[in-house]
Amino acid sequence: MNPADQFTPIEDLTFTQAQAEIRDLSDELTKWGREYYEEDNPSVEDYVYDAHYARLVALEKAYPSLAMPDSPTQHVAAGNQTKNDSRGLQKVVHPVPMLSLGDVFSIQELLDWDLVTTKNAGSQQKYNLELKIDGLAISLRYENGRLIQASTRGDGSIGENVTDNVKTITEIPKVLNEPLTIEVRGEIYMRKEAFADLNRQRDEEGKTIFANPRNAAAGSLRQLDPKITAKRHLSSFIYYTAQNDVLGVNTQSDVLERFRQLGFPVNSSNKVIDRMTEVKDYIDEYTIKRDNLPYGIDGVVVKVNDLDVENELGNTVKIPRWSIAYKFPPEEALTVVRDITWTVGRTGVVTPTAIMDPVFLAGTKVKRASLHNPDYLQEKDVRIGDTVTLHKAGDIIPEVGQVILKKRPADAQAYPIPVYCPSCKSKLVHVQGEVALRCINPECPAQIKEGLIHFASRNAMNIDGLGPRVVEQLLSKNLIRKISDLYALTESQLTTLDKFADLSSKNLIQAIDRSRQNSVERLITALGIRGVGAKAAKVLAAHFKNLRNLQNAGAEEIAEIDGVGQVMADAIRQYFNSESVASLINELENFQVNFDYLTTSTVDEKNYFFNKRIVLTGKLIHWTRPQMQAWLEEHGANVSSSVSSKTDLLIAGSDVGSKLERANKLGIKVINEQDFINLSNAKK
Ligand code: IVH
Repeated sequence: MNPADQFTPIEDLTFTQAQAEIRDLSDELTKWGREYYEEDNPSVEDYVYDAHYARLVALEKAYPSLAMPDSPTQHVAAGNQTKNDSRGLQKVVHPVPMLSLGDVFSIQELLDWDLVTTKNAGSQQKYNLELKIDGLAISLRYENGRLIQASTRGDGSIGENVTDNVKTITEIPKVLNEPLTIEVRGEIYMRKEAFADLNRQRDEEGKTIFANPRNAAAGSLRQLDPKITAKRHLSSFIYYTAQNDVLGVNTQSDVLERFRQLGFPVNSSNKVIDRMTEVKDYIDEYTIKRDNLPYGIDGVVVKVNDLDVENELGNTVKIPRWSIAYKFPPEEALTVVRDITWTVGRTGVVTPTAIMDPVFLAGTKVKRASLHNPDYLQEKDVRIGDTVTLHKAGDIIPEVGQVILKKRPADAQAYPIPVYCPSCKSKLVHVQGEVALRCINPECPAQIKEGLIHFASRNAMNIDGLGPRVVEQLLSKNLIRKISDLYALTESQLTTLDKFADLSSKNLIQAIDRSRQNSVERLITALGIRGVGAKAAKVLAAHFKNLRNLQNAGAEEIAEIDGVGQVMADAIRQYFNSESVASLINELENFQVNFDYLTTSTVDEKNYFFNKRIVLTGKLIHWTRPQMQAWLEEHGANVSSSVSSKTDLLIAGSDVGSKLERANKLGIKVINEQDFINLSNAKK
């Protein structure tokens, strides 16, 4: 549903109604602006904000006497600008304000804008088309080629100093290829893959997950501790400077080329068009391609290509006259909710999921969306039979938007929150301070099943062949009841499983057997202690060296370890205090599962890849890109996503594109997958 549909036509409003609506919209937009710009935690989708903003603009135009000087339409970011930043980041004044862009939502509006621009410029213009990267704006100041300050946009006049954080972003050059003094602007964003990894890790560690890559990028950049930013793998594209004279070029497309020469990361999808009518092809092209891009885009930015004309046209207080943003319509679909199911996770959390008629959305077929927790379900009031809007948060996670009440079946009932566990039927509890509903029965079959799946999973004991289906069968055939039973399984027992030939039985037994030799951090991860993911497990293993030492450690000692903290320490203590855990550990020891930390840091500094800046591109055959990246990083290489003059090596698979072209242009060494295998001596 288009959010604009809910508004009464302006001509039907009385003066008092218009006044009330303007006041409500201003409050609402101010609040949403604050959530978006200051708290990195918006409560509404961008398109909802945009529709309400457009409504306010239209109302103020129809009733100029009601337009307030402090209206959100009169300054860049809404929000309380006088508030001191509670996080303590220093404020930075932008000598040249960081403007926003005017938005349009249709090709017709672009054509209209072109008419005005042509008139103002006195002649037809060429335009440089760029992707509108969905991140947050950054200003970078270089003095004699050295990065001296990085700041966020803030309200456009005053931003926050994030220099130390930005210095951890490998793609951003700390020193330019020429000793220029210049301020440049661009976007900091998080790649879809990095976003998915971060959320997976946060979920594993029991932390709240970010709603979309933009929020994740903003939250990661606006940190007091640069070490946190460093771990978040942020990326950047630079696209603008107010000091074109420093660059000595005449067009925006050449600005981008100059940026590239200077060592900046620059998006390579820009295109110069001779007249505005050609914009449609570009928009169509990226409407299709956007789902497959490794980063999020929310539109296309049109810029007058001629910099003299840009200069002549200048800016209004808020937006430039030489540029405009076309925003993609929200990718939304309507579907019908057929069921709401409740699943019990490994830690007993009971989660509702909406099961819907399948629809295509942003490149994939979707039929399920998490409804997160009972509060969320009640707030949305999703009922069986309801027609709902569905979108993808951050282009990735399917999410129910709103219920179309007009289409609700007359007999639809509010969905009841379960009182008993759908798996073991024990009474569910609301733990104080948590939104989650939990089953606290340690014998709950669903929790045991999820615990086993987790135990065998790749980051944990890495038992190949022991996925959810096999675990389900082992449980239903009573071949296992708890984790330690895995180590007593025999080949002949396994041959009784569905689709299990002798070979698979043999392989699985071998895989289980091999897992006994794992270094203990895998076992610590596999135990599934609340909040302890693979990373924390590694830190704990390196510190305690043996599972028994961790088991016997006091919460205080655990909490003191760098990267652990009190909450996790308490969870660990609580976990090991349980009697059933004590017997599980004894049983695992009897089955000769290794309890020692065997991993030593063995980065051989003489290996070919050590300390090299490497970019991967194209399709690989023997490796996946994340695997190769992980291998390289373990061996001391620095893997980044775009080729710059600082890149030492490009590893190129098949179907390569612009990265190879660029590497060749810059004279960077390129090797293929086979060369990598030879040089690394690494087998998969
Ligand atoms: S040009 C003076 N180019 O979109 C205007 N902005 O909605 C300078 N954005 O504040 C901005 N991609 O954060 C420009 N290729 C691009 C962009 C871009 C994303 C962001 C930028 C800007 C916002 C406006």
